[in-house]
Amino acid sequence: MPHPRGAQTHFARVAPVYDRFRDTDPDVVETITAQLPPRSGRIAVVDIGCGTGRYSQILAERIGASLQLICCDYSEAMLAECRDRLHSDATHADVGFCRASALHLPFGSGCVDAVVTFNAVHHFELERFMTECARILRGGGLLAIYTRTPKQNARTVWGQFFPGFTEYETRLYGADRLQAAVAAVPTLAFEGIREFAHVRSEPADSLVARARNFHYSTFALYPPAEFEAALSTFAARLAGSAIGKGRIEHTAENTLVLAHRLSDAPSIDITP
Ligand SMILES: C[S@@+](CC[C@H](N)C(=O)[O-])C[C@H]1O[C@@H](n2cnc3c(N)ncnc32)[C@H](O)[C@@H]1O
Repeated sequence: MPHPRGAQTHFARVAPVYDRFRDTDPDVVETITAQLPPRSGRIAVVDIGCGTGRYSQILAERIGASLQLICCDYSEAMLAECRDRLHSDATHADVGFCRASALHLPFGSGCVDAVVTFNAVHHFELERFMTECARILRGGGLLAIYTRTPKQNARTVWGQFFPGFTEYETRLYGADRLQAAVAAVPTLAFEGIREFAHVRSEPADSLVARARNFHYSTFALYPPAEFEAALSTFAARLAGSAIGKGRIEHTAENTLVLAHRLSDAPSIDITP
């Protein structure tokens, strides 16, 4: 795993352009909201590694006024984008922001109804993150982890055509590893796994532009000269496999791991 400071430099660099180069899949949020525990008052949800708030915003739109959402990230640059996005948004959710590490969440024990994380868990040391989630969740609270596994990563357009992509990306957790990490925490119960497949069609140039703008942090792991050479090879390979008018059809797969907190915990204020 790269040094956290290296990862923070990466996210500071990509924060202003991140949303332009990533695809957002709202259907996963529908699946998560359907699993939220019933609550008579506001439902307290923490989005860890919220980034620019792409998924936080969808949560706020879908749940609305009954949501108390805290967006957490250790990158100030990503969190600043998230603040801008959610402040200019007309949802009625009560939204807060918190600069914090996923491994030291600044919340009391048993104070949140759900912890969600999208495309970020591979940056976290898994066992410590799981333990922290179990600590802050109320009894019955939901843990939802949306990620891509190494196998899904290998089947992406990048895994197939971008030289070195699967070799450099060694941080992703497999479904078994995620399930085992849940099982290792006595107060968490594994609920299940959902798989998602999103078919996309876009110009080859757009795929090249994504990589050039480091839309996956994997690209930041390459030495610069090797990255430039790999990018050229990628562009040439795409040109050879375009389905017409320079467009590429590809499928992005992801995995959603669901778990819940077992025993009841005392309820306290979420405000960080
Ligand atoms: C790939 S981005 C995903 C952002 C957002 N969830 C999304 O899907 O658009 C990963 C995010 O995790 C954050 N992150 C990485 N390691 C972290 C850590 N240990 N604690 C908190 N945030 C972290 C990064 O700053 C970044 O914003």
